Amino acid sequence: MTTPSLKTLSVKGNNHFDQEDWSSSYANVDKEFESIELTKIKGEIPKGLSGTLFRNGPGRMERNGQWIHHPFDGDGMITAISFSNGEVSFSNKFVETQAWKEEEKAGKFLYRGVFGTQKPGGILANIFNTRLKNIANTNVIKLGDELLALWEAANPYALDPLTLETIGISTLNGLLKTSESFSAHPRFDPGHHTYPKLVTFGVKPGPISTIRLMEFSTEGEDKGKLISERNDKFKGFAFLHDFAITPNWAIFLQNAISFNPIPFLLGRKSAAQCLSTDTNNTSKFWLIPRESGKFAKQNPRIIDAQEGFVFHHLNSWEDNEDIIIESIYYDHFPSIDKDEDFRQINFDLIPEGRLKRSRINLADKSSKTDLISEQCCEFAMVNPMKQGLSARFSWMAVAENKRGNGPLQAIKKLDLLNGNCCFWSAAPRGFVSEPMMVPEPNSNLEDKGWILVVIWNGLRRGSDLVILNATNLEEVATLELPIGIPHGLHGSWVKGT
Ligand SMILES: [Fe+2]
Repeated sequence: MTTPSLKTLSVKGNNHFDQEDWSSSYANVDKEFESIELTKIKGEIPKGLSGTLFRNGPGRMERNGQWIHHPFDGDGMITAISFSNGEVSFSNKFVETQAWKEEEKAGKFLYRGVFGTQKPGGILANIFNTRLKNIANTNVIKLGDELLALWEAANPYALDPLTLETIGISTLNGLLKTSESFSAHPRFDPGHHTYPKLVTFGVKPGPISTIRLMEFSTEGEDKGKLISERNDKFKGFAFLHDFAITPNWAIFLQNAISFNPIPFLLGRKSAAQCLSTDTNNTSKFWLIPRESGKFAKQNPRIIDAQEGFVFHHLNSWEDNEDIIIESIYYDHFPSIDKDEDFRQINFDLIPEGRLKRSRINLADKSSKTDLISEQCCEFAMVNPMKQGLSARFSWMAVAENKRGNGPLQAIKKLDLLNGNCCFWSAAPRGFVSEPMMVPEPNSNLEDKGWILVVIWNGLRRGSDLVILNATNLEEVATLELPIGIPHGLHGSWVKGT
């Protein structure tokens, strides 16, 4: 294992971090840059690395002295780090949503946040106020010629891919209704049915929930165009953040969650604070046949799943008639209560994510779930060419400790076949975000390439981009970024731009 050049803190007991180092990441981003060259580089940028890492996450934490209640309520800020012939340029810009512009002008929050941020003015200012703020902060992808900032409960925002200027809210050429949900977790099918596609969904939740499954072309003259869609109804309130694909299936895990909107309507709690584990119901796998697969037009299958709560899946594939899906499970839905300060959270009191593998038997409609790894993890991915297929390797962000909860401080490469793993750690003063696996061009080796990860460097109170060798996680280069980026959410790699 190699470590970055961060000074060592004294480590007491199991604590490998200082809470202030971790929480200091949460500050307003007050500068925007357009295509500036990055020169503070340790190591060498790989010549074969050609493309742009786009990332999204909360960039605005406070207005007029009021802090957001949960980092997921922060307005989206896009970062773009572009590589070409060993040179690197950096841009960052807020998504200028309608709500962002209104709040910039007013100098205070005007909207309630889904995860707990309230309008100033107490209950009277929040009661019966159900206007959602599209904060466009969860992911950023390229679809056709458009760069899209995604937030799952509403339409995406279209951005200029070069300048990151906000073009405006997008209905994808009339495909989406106004305010229709569009997931922040699309999956790129690398070519299960001869050519690559983007597969994604939208959910209309209610006592009966509807999933709209959509597949888009990503290449050629039709790139960005819808190829197929289907709509399926399921019993129960759907709370779906992510999904997975195989060549024949789109796989959803409906967590056993109930939603009581009364405290939200009365202005006492946010919508997410009204979610709770539903002990009267069981989680379900909802399997929807893909239109290009061999079960097209058939009805979905519904199969009981293990209890627990899942935000993210790693990957899924088909093993003869069975479907395998790997997911990060929490013991229950984690939320930040009304009177808690997210910067002071006690990691020991909230559940950690652990990687599990479920085998879904379509013949007898059963599933069995086993623990793959005890270590607290999040943001796991496989080589993108293995999306939906059996993959041997995965890369993920993990806590420094092998057991229990903690902030994400290390990157782990896990051999899914034999359990072997190797690590790169930013502890004790560094904190990692979602790792991006970029395959080396023209290589057939699944673990040949680079891992790109933005870290929060607690020592200098700023952000770095670290490039690791995907095979052994050795550090290839570290680039000092010109801004501090709060702990972020998701992003994507776009080749050759
Ligand atoms: Fe996510």
